[in-house]
Amino acid sequence: MTSLKKIIITVDGWSSCGKSTMARQLAKRLQYIFIDSGSMYRAITLFFIRNEVNVQDPAQVAKALQQIKLSFHLNAHNGNNEIYLNGENAEPYIREMKVAEKVSEVAAIREVREFAVKQQQLIGNDKGIVMDGRDIGTAVFPQAELKIFMTADNDVRVMRRYKELAAKDSSIQMEDVKSNLALRDHMDSNREVSPLRKAEDAVVLDNSHMTPDEQLNLALQWAKEKINA
Ligand code: CDP
Repeated sequence: MTSLKKIIITVDGWSSCGKSTMARQLAKRLQYIFIDSGSMYRAITLFFIRNEVNVQDPAQVAKALQQIKLSFHLNAHNGNNEIYLNGENAEPYIREMKVAEKVSEVAAIREVREFAVKQQQLIGNDKGIVMDGRDIGTAVFPQAELKIFMTADNDVRVMRRYKELAAKDSSIQMEDVKSNLALRDHMDSNREVSPLRKAEDAVVLDNSHMTPDEQLNLALQWAKEKINA
């Protein structure tokens, strides 16, 4: 592939509507970097849980953030950028339910967001990036050339996340997944700092009835229009 013009592509939306799957494939096809910003909030949450940080105590939060170093490293086997927490690959732990149960509370803390957003903006300095999250098109890269807002019907999202978690842990209950998604959606869209909302100039991708290939093709078409503009 000849090298393409580099733009910034943001993918925001509700929990479990397939943002990361689509964003990862899109980045691969464009030979761009893919960053899952949620993995940063999950890794910070993992640190807080392991170190019993009281999230209500600003001094403890500030101290903990000083002790956290996040980085992404390419896994040569699967081609993914994986998140490291203080030098340890955190990927195997950050998708667990105990992290999911706490992450939206942690992600609502202003200091946590400032910490994560600063690093996200640095990573995006050279463009050629697809980043997914909740506030990427609104707060992290408001100047992005292409902003996609993803959504899907609630039942579809619950089933997708249930299947993903049940494949790793057979004790997972559908009701728990459902209530966790509902709670996170509520917290993510009602928090004071950078709530989840569609950027005015974002295009909506509702993938309730789309295959991964169909959603990828649509996003690729949008990306190419911007790249060739
Ligand atoms: O995979 P899923 O959509 O369930 O979540 P995620 O992308 O891994 O993000 C986990 C949590 O981090 C979200 O529920 C948000 O509370 C928070 N988050 C955020 O606040 N801002 C972002 N840019 C990304 C994630």
